[in-house]
Amino acid sequence: SDSKFLRLCCISDIPDSGILRVTVPGYDPLAVCQVDGAFFAIADTCSHGMASLSEGDIEDGQIFCPFHGGGFEIATGNPTERPCTIPIATYPVKRVEDALFIASK
Ligand code: FES
Repeated sequence: SDSKFLRLCCISDIPDSGILRVTVPGYDPLAVCQVDGAFFAIADTCSHGMASLSEGDIEDGQIFCPFHGGGFEIATGNPTERPCTIPIATYPVKRVEDALFIASK
């Protein structure tokens, strides 16, 4: 395996329109999301409060926070729904066979 990448999870761990919370060294907790067969890694912690976005829901390419219903576009991290106004971090993921990886920091 490539030491410049860290393994996040198996793709089968994430149902379509589902989210998996993952922690890897060097990163704040991540929410790994599947949207229509594409995979994304975003910050798990909402930018509005200390909510775990992986406990929220995905709809129309957005993730909605379980605390106050704020939303973000998963592909960009941009806020889409108040009270969220600050973007969250997004990170490229790499798929190798049935697993997902993120660049090591
Ligand atoms: Fe996420 Fe308030 S903590 S919307």
